[in-house]
Amino acid sequence: MNGDRIDSSRRRFLGTIGGGALAAGALGSMPGVLGKVLHAEEAPGRMQAGNTLRRPPLFTGASLNAAVLAQNVWPDMTTTVWTYGGSYPAPTIRRRRGERFTVMLNNELPEETNIHWHGLLVPADMDGHAMDVVGPGQRKEFDFTIDQRAGTYWYHPHPDMKTGKQVFKGMAGFFIVEDDEELALGLPSGEYEIPLVIQDRRLRSDRAFDYTLVMADQMDGFLGDAFLANGTPDAAVDLERTLYRFRVLNGSNARLYKLALSDGGEFHVIGTDCGLLDKPYAVRSLFLGPAERVDLLIDLSGYSVGTSIRLIAENFDGAVDWTMQGWGGDILTMNIVSDGPQRALPTSLATLERLELSQASRTRTFEFEMVVPMPPKGMHTINDRVFHGMRIDETVTAGDVELWVLKSTSDEPHPVHIHGAMFQIVDRNGAAITDPKDMGWKDTVIIWGEDTVRVLVRFGAHPGVFLLHCHNLEHEDDGMMMNYMITATSSAVEQERPVEKIDLF
Ligand code: C2O
Ligand code: CU
Ligand code: CU
Repeated sequence: MNGDRIDSSRRRFLGTIGGGALAAGALGSMPGVLGKVLHAEEAPGRMQAGNTLRRPPLFTGASLNAAVLAQNVWPDMTTTVWTYGGSYPAPTIRRRRGERFTVMLNNELPEETNIHWHGLLVPADMDGHAMDVVGPGQRKEFDFTIDQRAGTYWYHPHPDMKTGKQVFKGMAGFFIVEDDEELALGLPSGEYEIPLVIQDRRLRSDRAFDYTLVMADQMDGFLGDAFLANGTPDAAVDLERTLYRFRVLNGSNARLYKLALSDGGEFHVIGTDCGLLDKPYAVRSLFLGPAERVDLLIDLSGYSVGTSIRLIAENFDGAVDWTMQGWGGDILTMNIVSDGPQRALPTSLATLERLELSQASRTRTFEFEMVVPMPPKGMHTINDRVFHGMRIDETVTAGDVELWVLKSTSDEPHPVHIHGAMFQIVDRNGAAITDPKDMGWKDTVIIWGEDTVRVLVRFGAHPGVFLLHCHNLEHEDDGMMMNYMITATSSAVEQERPVEKIDLF
């Protein structure tokens, strides 16, 4: 995989600015629980105690309050968290395609916030644009109709230059969309379906979610040394000997994970960011970048009652080698406590329309860059520009397909996300896609350092201003983001939001 490469250009670059000293400082201040050697192919172990995996509540209300609370993230001490709907992680929203979704955001935070429905194709004024914020003590009603494939989407704040902090402090939750096609498959559900958000935090003696950025954090993103599963450190869950569906979200600010089972065993990818694949694909590991989702089937029927298996992040090279990026660790201990129903792997899943290069009406190139010498702010750019909320960088037509060429010009990986659209990956550095996780409909894609990834983007039907950005949230907040405008065509546009009414907030 691309991530196994070691790149030396960044080290040379850092030599010129004293990055080694920064690195030593950043790492020296962190109690290291990561970096231990992980053993692939280890035998299933004995059952292990841990903190019981948290299951975020199901959202049933009419409002989501954004508020500061104290919560026992670690069992021994409370942590001040920023929340939607009174819990970290935020409540899981589950809705059917075709439904109208209405919710009131009440902002009880000391600063502005909003909600972005990551992956959902909603009208521009419902999308939680970085400049479209709700002040402290204010509220906003979100109201839209869900019209897209079933899938594992999510929601989080998106205020300009504050997204990293607010997400880190706890504001993020699942938005699961179901449809008839998917429900007819009878995939594992109820207790056999586990939405799992993976996040890294820094294990501190005061258990605080402290978000103080040093230069290394601004350059590489805010990396933690403790992996939390659904907001649970050292998470453990009791499971049966049967087939489980895990909807995995990388909700971390900047960390990429190479997910695997601790015994190196096989599991199946059944879906990507925006819904199901055509059939299950067997893998032994996969990379998940910030904001990406992957839908997995993990078959536990082969393990004996009384044993345990862990979902882990394996160590990998390929990011900047003096940071904690690429460090592995345990994510979730699965204790096999009883027998369960016999279930076979499905042979086919959903119909997957394939976009063709011939459908693209034009090509645009986006270079994700690190600026040298580094300014104090705005060292991360797209096509040499730092985000400006009032500037439209590109204009496209609703419903069109375009070929977008996404490049990382440094050795930083960038998880690139497009609002208001879904895309399919054409190739990586000219090579055909082999990773099942790259095969389906996507809204976020990992661009490894120095790599070029081509994607076919289909814009949604809603006209207005949407965002393209790096979902490394420190890169995003630093300016690696741009506006693009979707304009209406007579045929492809819903009528209630004519384009002349759209202004830039
Ligand atoms: Cu998940 Cu523009 O963000
Ligand atoms: Cu988004
Ligand atoms: Cu980036």
